[in-house]
Amino acid sequence: MTKPPSSLLKIEGLEQSFGGVMALAGISFQTPESLIYAIIGPNGAGKTTLFNVLCGFYQPAAGSLRLNGQELRGLPTHRIAALGIARTFQNLQLFFNMTVLENVMVGGHLRAKTGLLTAALRLPRVRREEQQLREWAKEALELCELADRAEQSASALPYGLMKRVEIARALAAKPRLLLLDEPAAGLNDTETIALRDLIQRIRATGITVLLVEHHMPLVMSVSDRLLVLDYGSVLAEGTPADIQADPRVIAAYLGGAVQYAV
Ligand SMILES: Nc1ncnc2c1ncn2[C@@H]1O[C@H](COP(=O)(O)OP(=O)(O)O)[C@@H](O)[C@H]1O
Ligand SMILES: [Mg+2]
Repeated sequence: MTKPPSSLLKIEGLEQSFGGVMALAGISFQTPESLIYAIIGPNGAGKTTLFNVLCGFYQPAAGSLRLNGQELRGLPTHRIAALGIARTFQNLQLFFNMTVLENVMVGGHLRAKTGLLTAALRLPRVRREEQQLREWAKEALELCELADRAEQSASALPYGLMKRVEIARALAAKPRLLLLDEPAAGLNDTETIALRDLIQRIRATGITVLLVEHHMPLVMSVSDRLLVLDYGSVLAEGTPADIQADPRVIAAYLGGAVQYAV
């Protein structure tokens, strides 16, 4: 008997509400390992909320979230980070008084045994761990083609590279699942193409990428599969070709005359 392809992330019946607003109204989907899985949908569809629930920022009212079979519901954020989920934020969250390398090292601290405070005190026993985090941060900077910027102040970078530092920071936590929340927002065309190449390099290392994004040429060219959310529910799921041909998705989100082949 052949085993079905194993899914890295399996979400079932997930519900999250804020007051009267059902931000996630019982969604289910699963993502196999080592692919790029996009989540699209209009503003307010629940995309960022899904990321927040996945990272443990919110505890859902119902449903289950399993990473490689392990239930994440109820776990605190640092446990989830240690199990291999890292994210970037829709709005830039860099420390502008720190260098690029220091910003990226923060990512490793999120899953390290030593807390940020202990690390900040630089006790001898945490030095080895610090060395490890520095290595991970440097690897992440290499992958993001930011190695030559390591010692610069984060504030000195152009916007497109600041967004890339955030991706490097998430990678420095050595995730198996990387959540990118609108990474192309505010990028010019050249930066967007560079982002597409980066996302593909990340996938090639074996990391699964969940990509929330409105830039349809990017989404349609880079994703293996897509999930379409609308008002907190799954409207459709499938390959880019399936989604572009789905009349419900066209009506709710993509609009009429669109051609996304790249
Ligand atoms: N912390 C919050 N408090 C109250 N309402 C929220 C909160 N976060 C999200 N929402 C609501 O949940 C819905 C989904 O929001 P969000 O997940 O940010 O959508 P998206 O990222 O798809 O644009 C929206 O109606 C939004 O106003
Ligand atoms: Mg959002």
